[in-house]
Amino acid sequence: MSSRLQEARDRLNRLGKISLGFYPTPFHKLERISEEYGVNLWIKREDFSGTTLFGGNKIRKLEYLLKDAKDQGCDTVFTYGATQSNHAMETCTAARRCGMRPVLYLGAIVEPKPDDVRANLLLDRILGAEIHILASEGRSTKDTMKANEAIFAAHREQLAKEGHKVYDIPIGGSTPRGAAGFAEAYIELLEQAADKGMTIDYLYTATGSGGTLAGLTAGKILAGDAHATTRGIIVGKKDPSTYGQGVADIANKILELTGNEPSATTDHFELYADYVGPGYEKPYREANDDIRYLARTEGIFTDPVYSGKGFHGMMDQIRKGMVPKGSTVVYLHTGGATALFSEPEIIGDLRDDL
Ligand SMILES: Cc1ncc(COP(=O)(O)O)c(C=O)c1O
Repeated sequence: MSSRLQEARDRLNRLGKISLGFYPTPFHKLERISEEYGVNLWIKREDFSGTTLFGGNKIRKLEYLLKDAKDQGCDTVFTYGATQSNHAMETCTAARRCGMRPVLYLGAIVEPKPDDVRANLLLDRILGAEIHILASEGRSTKDTMKANEAIFAAHREQLAKEGHKVYDIPIGGSTPRGAAGFAEAYIELLEQAADKGMTIDYLYTATGSGGTLAGLTAGKILAGDAHATTRGIIVGKKDPSTYGQGVADIANKILELTGNEPSATTDHFELYADYVGPGYEKPYREANDDIRYLARTEGIFTDPVYSGKGFHGMMDQIRKGMVPKGSTVVYLHTGGATALFSEPEIIGDLRDDL
């Protein structure tokens, strides 16, 4: 490992984390797609991060967050998301491994049926989380949570009176401390690429609450990697005037936490908002076609909410020539395939054999 990468790792290690996942995550070439499109396409399998069969990109964040929770003497974890949130489910697994009690506040973008509980919501139940479902009334999850802040505060206060200490994790675990997990992932990826004698030209990921992209950006700066272009495929409707700056702000806070100058700007990554489709948790034909395409060429599953839309965005850009022939491209597979077992509104036409 180069001394620059080692130093970056040391700085991140000093933040402190517990071990939840299994790293490094697998990194391998997608031979058949590479041949078809004349690029060297690799995939980094954050879907195999652990801690269960249903890993994903939240586990790296939770390693840093739950260390902080333990250090603060917390016995209860609150988090927030949509009813099929991967982050919420993964937070429950992490909390259970740390002997803490998970409490979830979930916005019902898709209304769950009490007699047919599916996918992550089913896993949350098996994990014994205390689950509160909030009506979304057409709002984004973020706005639903904002509207219910007083309820969360009263609940925390009540638990404090009973002698409990709550650790609060926002949507997606995208605090600077949580997102630092993806600075580490970036360094791990550069090490894996160096071992194979490769230089990465383009790195693609799905981006939602922005922590993954922010962490990758901080990692790129920490590693001094000026070469790879990072491209974030946005999966929910965002305000384009503030979203990129929000990502850069989180990256800068990670840099500050690790004793570095906050030098991240929106020039450190490219954002693409044209692959959201009708909205968050709303599938569309072209993205689902690419979920089928990846499954049928390489035997790999992505999900209709995040990793499938991210993969579709990348494939569309490869097809349109936005990735020059011969480029080395990495897709960061962020997981989420439990959504394949969720409500029909989320799955869309994936049930049909098109
Ligand atoms: C499977 C999956 N991919 C990507 C993301 C987006 O990551 P971030 O919220 O860090 O932008 C999420 C977030 O929930 C996710 O669950």
